[in-house]
Amino acid sequence: MNTRFLDACWGKPVDRTPVWLMRQAGRYLPDYMRVRSKYTFLELCKTSHLAAEVTIQPVDILGVDAAILFSDILIPVEPMGMELDFVPGPVFKNPVRTLEDVERLRIPHMEEDVPYVLETIRILCRELDNKVPLIGFGGAPFTLACYMVEGKGSKDFAQIKRMMYIAPEVYGELMDKVTAMNTVYLNAQIRAGAQAIQIFDTWGGLLTPSDYAEYVLPYSKKLIEGLNSTDVPVIHFVKGAGTMLDIVKQAGGNVIGLDWHVSLGRARDILGPGMAVQGNLDPTVLYAPKETIEREVKRILDENDGRPGHIFNLGHGILPNIPPDNAIFLVDCVHRLSQR
Ligand code: CP3
Repeated sequence: MNTRFLDACWGKPVDRTPVWLMRQAGRYLPDYMRVRSKYTFLELCKTSHLAAEVTIQPVDILGVDAAILFSDILIPVEPMGMELDFVPGPVFKNPVRTLEDVERLRIPHMEEDVPYVLETIRILCRELDNKVPLIGFGGAPFTLACYMVEGKGSKDFAQIKRMMYIAPEVYGELMDKVTAMNTVYLNAQIRAGAQAIQIFDTWGGLLTPSDYAEYVLPYSKKLIEGLNSTDVPVIHFVKGAGTMLDIVKQAGGNVIGLDWHVSLGRARDILGPGMAVQGNLDPTVLYAPKETIEREVKRILDENDGRPGHIFNLGHGILPNIPPDNAIFLVDCVHRLSQR
């Protein structure tokens, strides 16, 4: 078993810096598009053998040190009673706006309501055959609530911020419910065999540091504390959190995911030796010539300066039209330049 990724999560020394890419299974890969052309994105997520197949593609093609379950953070929100579609961005036809809307939401029974997610994990545990560890994941309560209230993607997610300010009791009920749902969901993934968990808080950085501390941190902390296994490391990725890493750290977990707006070296200085980090290449660098990719990889490795507990990744998901060759080159570059 390649344990580089898990070792780095625990802050242990490794032979080479482990690397995987957020959204590594996706539209930039012709192999993914071949499968995707026959099914909708939701059909792909809900058909376990297909989801498992596209999960494994980047492991074979790129040589990454971890696999991440192919699914979406919004999949367990649908059985709460929300009508979900992807066009290709997510859309809920019945967004949550009132206390009655929140009260109508149910906490799903994962084995009955999203059996395909757990089955995909079980298939992957067999098919990956311990070649690389499998990362399970969920959205942070705030990011899930952003989509549930807005009903779709948005630049500023003003609807949920408005709810937060003018109807804090409705906001609180919603966040409590989403946190409870997610705790059950991530524990089910761990029970099915996920070997690490990543929590995606794509929109946490939309808030001021003090609003983040008041309206987001308590729920993310509760979610992380509610995970039943102490053997499964938790990666907490809050996009746009470079100016509030000290606050994000209070949520717990083993690894903080960094976007590219922050210097990895300075982030490590702030977080201290007890917290591993993941990141943080600007995803658009994968459009650049190979010399530029190599220069940026070297810069990030230099910023880490040999400290244990670094997992190389992009600062956000890989973009749809990146040449696969550049992604392959990136993975090789990280391994080559970090060889101890
Ligand atoms: O990383 C992986 O390879 C695992 C799969 C994964 C997907 N979504 C597949 C996906 C993961 C971890 C996610 C998380 C996710 N989903 C987040 C958090 C991370 C982030 O990117 O900020 C968010 C906010 C979502 C919600 C979501 N799903 C959006 C906004 C979109 C549309 C964006 C786009 O790229 O078009 C999706 C769709 C989606 N999720 C796709 C994939 C591969 C594209 C679907 C397709 O094939 O058409």
